[in-house]
Amino acid sequence: MFISKEVQPSATLKFSQKAREKVAGGETIYSLGLGEPDFNPPSLLIDKVYEAAKAGFNKYGNSMGLDSLRLHIANKLQKENDILCEKDDICITFGAKQALIIALMAVLQPGDEVINISPCYVSYIPQVKIAEPKAVIKNIDLSPGDFSLDFEALKSAVSAKTKCIILNSPNNPTGKVFSRAEYDLLIGLVKDSKIYLISDEIYEYLNFGNVPMVSPGAYKEVAESVFTINGFSKAFGMTGWRIGYMTVPKDQRRNIGTLVQHMNTNVTSFVQKGLEGVYDIDRSFLVDYNDHLRRMAEHITDELNAAGLQVVKPQGGLFCFVNISAKGLKSDDFATLLLEKQNVAVTPGIAFGANWDDYVRISFAGKEEEIRLGIEGIRNFVL
Ligand SMILES: Cc1ncc(COP(=O)(O)O)c(C=O)c1O
Repeated sequence: MFISKEVQPSATLKFSQKAREKVAGGETIYSLGLGEPDFNPPSLLIDKVYEAAKAGFNKYGNSMGLDSLRLHIANKLQKENDILCEKDDICITFGAKQALIIALMAVLQPGDEVINISPCYVSYIPQVKIAEPKAVIKNIDLSPGDFSLDFEALKSAVSAKTKCIILNSPNNPTGKVFSRAEYDLLIGLVKDSKIYLISDEIYEYLNFGNVPMVSPGAYKEVAESVFTINGFSKAFGMTGWRIGYMTVPKDQRRNIGTLVQHMNTNVTSFVQKGLEGVYDIDRSFLVDYNDHLRRMAEHITDELNAAGLQVVKPQGGLFCFVNISAKGLKSDDFATLLLEKQNVAVTPGIAFGANWDDYVRISFAGKEEEIRLGIEGIRNFVL
């Protein structure tokens, strides 16, 4: 297989490996690297998965997903996101990550242009290049001052060859939640084209700022060209269960159906069955978790701004994207030295886009005590 140079081992995993080595050597590491909530899935869901396995949901199933789960998801999308869809528009995947790559594989042809908003989730660029090595990626930088969408840059990047735009809100790594006004401009730009919007909404329920969640799939003008991608990893503490989903535009149903048949057969049957009523369970634990995220986001912003770094307070998700230029180190060196000297693991900004080498990403997904000690370590490192 031809593998493009853009397809490199994940930088987030490289640092977690180094951190693990230190732990094995008996040291305490303050891990602000990975975006993984540290709570367990609600026990009700664990019980349901267990019961599903005992009840016989252990066989092959429909490759687009279990009908009852697809119906449940379609109802959620209609009710909560204002997306007009039905069961047959939903495809269950091994995480949002797999939905992303399958959507890209389905739509991309050699020479197609993909607009990617940078900084971005570490897998987007490798996934585009795995899906179609001859796709051309046009990166549009978010405005460094407040991480807003640079509409003029976006407008000038759109061409007759643009096949899709990848969107992610709440955003990894900046914590930006795109506003309705930003979406209005974006939708106005693409509404008369055949450009697909691939909207990664995996952090939907981790939204603690004052900007309401907007799904581009809710805009009727473009609804037929939107892949709404979501999953359960982040909100329900089940990153290892590997289950997510997407809405599939009608003209891509055949492509997607064929891809999942040959790639997966189906997503684990008893996990799908166990999640059948997932959006109906008591979600008060998310109120508490969002409260934790809000407090941690404030703490990190205040402490690091006071230490001379520049932090835009995140509005959602699990991360702060911190400008480290005051320290005069590039992001990989900053992260390497920080781990060595203060035992704090963060992720270098360069992992999220070529123009973001003056940044590091700090995750506040974990325990308060660990985050506070980690931030103290960063302050000691920069002051
Ligand atoms: C923006 C973004 N999309 C997708 C994923 C992957 O989600 P999942 O665990 O559902 O595959 C992540 C995980 O870190 C992410 O940050």
